[in-house]
Amino acid sequence: MGNLMNTLQDHHKKLLAQAEDLTKELGAGSKNAAENLVGFLKKELLPHIESEENSVYPEIDRILPKYGKPTATMTLDHQLVKRIVSEMEGKASDSEAVLKKAQELLLILNLHTQKEETVYFPLLRDYLQEKEQEALLHRIHENFKASKGSSEHECQEQILDVRNLPPPKRHPLIFQTFDEMRGGKAFILLNDHDPKPLYYSFLHEREGMFDWEYLEKGPEDWRVKISKK
Ligand SMILES: [Fe+2]
Ligand SMILES: [Fe+2]
Repeated sequence: MGNLMNTLQDHHKKLLAQAEDLTKELGAGSKNAAENLVGFLKKELLPHIESEENSVYPEIDRILPKYGKPTATMTLDHQLVKRIVSEMEGKASDSEAVLKKAQELLLILNLHTQKEETVYFPLLRDYLQEKEQEALLHRIHENFKASKGSSEHECQEQILDVRNLPPPKRHPLIFQTFDEMRGGKAFILLNDHDPKPLYYSFLHEREGMFDWEYLEKGPEDWRVKISKK
């Protein structure tokens, strides 16, 4: 049973590893690197996607309406966008790193909006009644306002980024920040793993004094809003 899944993942792993290696060689200025990369992409990647179109996708199309969620891949894109923005925020002092991330983001955004506009939005236009379209527009604006309000609120809070701190220094700094903060205020802890042990320390050492709310749960960054009561 696991054979198909393993094989498909294995194909991707090998393709990506080789594409990355060849790109690195190109970046390092190796001889014939550009030719090798393009040759690989034409000989391996393009046949791979062609074969997916002809064999894998028809099978997925057949079972997806019953067992899958057609917008799940779009939600994955959204999660990636959020992650990149949060990575950019963490690197705000390094404009070269932010530029790299911004280029990555634009590529994803272009593809993502193209998918929405060519595949999904026409369905709304063609199959929702006028009244349903109006109601949806209203919900879109309401949702946007609400999430904009909460993100602006979030921006007012201090972000405590402990990702580059040596682990022994993290907890003391977090507790110090909490202790120096006035009641009713909050800060956002940005960490590179789930700060669950910290949560238990808080439960123990600041019992009844705080609120703990996950804003982002990995896989690379964790954000927790820690409020003081
Ligand atoms: Fe693939
Ligand atoms: Fe979107």
